[in-house]
Amino acid sequence: MSGIPHDHYEPKTGGEKWLHRRLPIVALLYDTIMLPTPKNLNWMWIWGIVLIFCLALQIVTGIVLVMHYTPHVDLAFASVEHIMRNVNGGHMLRYLHQNGAMLFFFAVYMHIFRNLYYGTYKTPREVTWIIGMLIYLLMMATAFMGYVLPWGQMSFWGATVITGLFGAIPGIGEALQTWLLGGPAVDNATLNRFFSLHYLLPFVIAALVVVHIWAFHTTGNSNPSGVEVRRTSKEEAQKDTVPFWPYYILKDFAALAMVLVVFFVLVGFMPNFLGHPDNYVEANPLVTPAHIVPEWYFLPFYAILRAFTNDVWIVQLVYFLSFGIIDAKFFGVLAMFGAIAVMALAPWLDTSSVRSGTYRPMFKWWFWLLVIDFFVLAWVGAMPAEGIYTWISLIASTYWFAYFLVILPLLGVIEKPLTPPATIEDDFLAKNSKNKGASATRATPAE
Ligand code: HEM
Repeated sequence: MSGIPHDHYEPKTGGEKWLHRRLPIVALLYDTIMLPTPKNLNWMWIWGIVLIFCLALQIVTGIVLVMHYTPHVDLAFASVEHIMRNVNGGHMLRYLHQNGAMLFFFAVYMHIFRNLYYGTYKTPREVTWIIGMLIYLLMMATAFMGYVLPWGQMSFWGATVITGLFGAIPGIGEALQTWLLGGPAVDNATLNRFFSLHYLLPFVIAALVVVHIWAFHTTGNSNPSGVEVRRTSKEEAQKDTVPFWPYYILKDFAALAMVLVVFFVLVGFMPNFLGHPDNYVEANPLVTPAHIVPEWYFLPFYAILRAFTNDVWIVQLVYFLSFGIIDAKFFGVLAMFGAIAVMALAPWLDTSSVRSGTYRPMFKWWFWLLVIDFFVLAWVGAMPAEGIYTWISLIASTYWFAYFLVILPLLGVIEKPLTPPATIEDDFLAKNSKNKGASATRATPAE
């Protein structure tokens, strides 16, 4: 599959040749598992396997949960309690699924920021990046709908607030909101369609993951140096790469085991640590919770949604220029989706000739500021939208947009990057010999 020259599968026995002529599935698996992979990948390349694990975990635990869950407003909350108390291992299943969603998002944020730092989204991996973004959007939709299913207070009010955002779209908003909800308010029809879609979307995600993997197998993996594998000859390509099996499969599984230790401590000893207690109160359309807060993984974008109020000059200007069509609420919705859209455009906004952040002295500073900004947004998203918090969320939201729309394009022009290593092999040897206390030049294979 990859354009990197390497040994391909050759059927040997009669049976293998028979199957290969009819369905070359063994060749496909062989090429996938033996994919030549840059030999200098660091520990930030492990999140892919964690993500695959999370997707599998969510599907398996989800399917078993559904065997005991009832998607009806009168029964949903009680059926979840039944799972927790009566079903064998039910509380474990539910906590795995609930915290599994959190691990999924943690891993996806690590994966996304890894890509942002090492510039892996740049040519020729734009399609891998865009498919990743689609996966991320579907993950958010799936998690949002899943959170409605236990029919707790946060489920109900979260659904009311978020579907209300669609109502802010000028003209079609109200009709769209009613269509999404299946009626004038969040009710049984809403719960049913969310349940149906929550079951369906993970399989759509799984299909997209296959395409995602296909895309980066076609281009080959990027790596921390940002330098491409040499493709002129098989010998040179072999100096830059190692086969995925056994090297990276074993490394990935070791890393996954370490991540799972932390995960199981969370699931086993503090399963509700990251959840909201209000969701253990059954949904009541007549009682609004004091603060409606989404799960932590939505908080940065929730903060952006709330940042642009009527007092902000740009909101007023847009309101005026659009003849009152784009009001503060709709502006917030546009800002929230826009924050993801500008990130999706990173491959075209990043103008630097050097791919990896390791060799970009100015970029590094702005990048780490973006990471801090993300944490600030998450924190402020959990705070009430008043006083100093509105200011903080406005400044942090502005930086998010400025990073992608102004800083990334400008840096490529004004920054003087360092010279990256000539080959992946050089990078690998330099790092390895540093560990051994020898010099990179002494370790080159030329001798
Ligand atoms: C279910 C979710 C996802 C799964 C299972 C997944 C899986 C993977 C795997 C296995 C890799 C190769 C190993 C690695 O780089 O860690 C990879 C690479 C990549 N992913 Fe994802 N990914 C997911 C979501 C995303 C998202 C949300 C983005 C960003 C928008 C993204 C962007 C990329 C890019 C650009 C690469 C190429 C990196 C390189 O070539 O070194 N992925 N993904």
